[in-house]
Amino acid sequence: MPGSPQWPHHESVVISSGARTGLPVIIAVHSSVLGPAAGGCRIWRYPRWQDGLEDALRLSAAMTAKFAAAGLACGGGKTVVALPEGYDLTPDRRHDLLSDIGDAVEALDGRYATAPDVGTSTLDMVVIGERTSHVFCKPTEHGGSGDSSPATADGTLAALRAVGARLGGGAADGTGPLRGLRLAVVGLGNVGSRLAELLSEAGAELVLSDIDAGKRELADRLGATWAEPHEALTAEVDIVVPAALGGVLTEQIVPELRCRAVVGPANNQLAVPQVADSLQTRGIVWVPDHIASAGGVIHAVTVELDKRPEDEARQRVRGIEHTVAGLLQDADSGGVTVAAVTEELVRARLGTPDLG
Ligand code: PHE
Repeated sequence: MPGSPQWPHHESVVISSGARTGLPVIIAVHSSVLGPAAGGCRIWRYPRWQDGLEDALRLSAAMTAKFAAAGLACGGGKTVVALPEGYDLTPDRRHDLLSDIGDAVEALDGRYATAPDVGTSTLDMVVIGERTSHVFCKPTEHGGSGDSSPATADGTLAALRAVGARLGGGAADGTGPLRGLRLAVVGLGNVGSRLAELLSEAGAELVLSDIDAGKRELADRLGATWAEPHEALTAEVDIVVPAALGGVLTEQIVPELRCRAVVGPANNQLAVPQVADSLQTRGIVWVPDHIASAGGVIHAVTVELDKRPEDEARQRVRGIEHTVAGLLQDADSGGVTVAAVTEELVRARLGTPDLG
């Protein structure tokens, strides 16, 4: 299952030392059952490069699930470059590293395409794109589909609408399922801040939070309540929306939660998979992050692989509302978690008994 990497389930893992930088470029291809693999390129600091390898294994498996659940013809992959602690990634070295990554992607000959992720930008994809054509999300002026975070925010909004409806939100006047509901958005980066704006437009009452106090300005502008991250996570609201780094849902935090649902774009929200059951026991609905955060990949793949127009991409992203509504219903009628139903769906699409 995603979240617990099991080496033998990955189709291939290539670790190459960059010719220019000597840094290890790790590319994990988890599955190509549904199509050639795709997934972001993460450049991050790790105590040991093996920790980066673990991340690549886990994240590439999560990509397989993300594409399968979204009904896209892509497999799961991920690139991780583990920077040693204290490594000074100067602009020149960064350029060299991106070239190393481009060579490593090209060596896979189309079996994997890369994209922006934590620590990489759309502009970085232009540099990688000098060495390989297997790259998503270059800026539009460079022929790509651009930054995927607006689409990710739109997709999360769609998921939240489905959950809002299920929680009985929305005024009888038909102004939408989020009107009047209280939501806490934890993390105001590219996706979180856009989502906060969309939620505000949708008539939600907001609690906003970020480790960067500079983001308080956004809260003031939207008339939202400002809170510290832990306070926001445990606030008495209808829905908590994790929109920052992963691992926020621990067994320790579950008893402290005072919300009815947790749905957000942050990757790998569960510290351990069993937390999904603990949330269920407390009656808290949790929608897996690979569903709520799929808007970005849906947009990129629709525009770049399927060569469909923007409108259609947007429509597909909005389709997440329907997907989540269906998952909620199936979970209800089966008396199981949304996570379990999602896993079932992914397994069925992959035609495999084990997602490793
Ligand atoms: N960070 C995104 C992800 O890994 C990047 C991505 C965009 C991947 C488009 C594939 C295609 O989910």
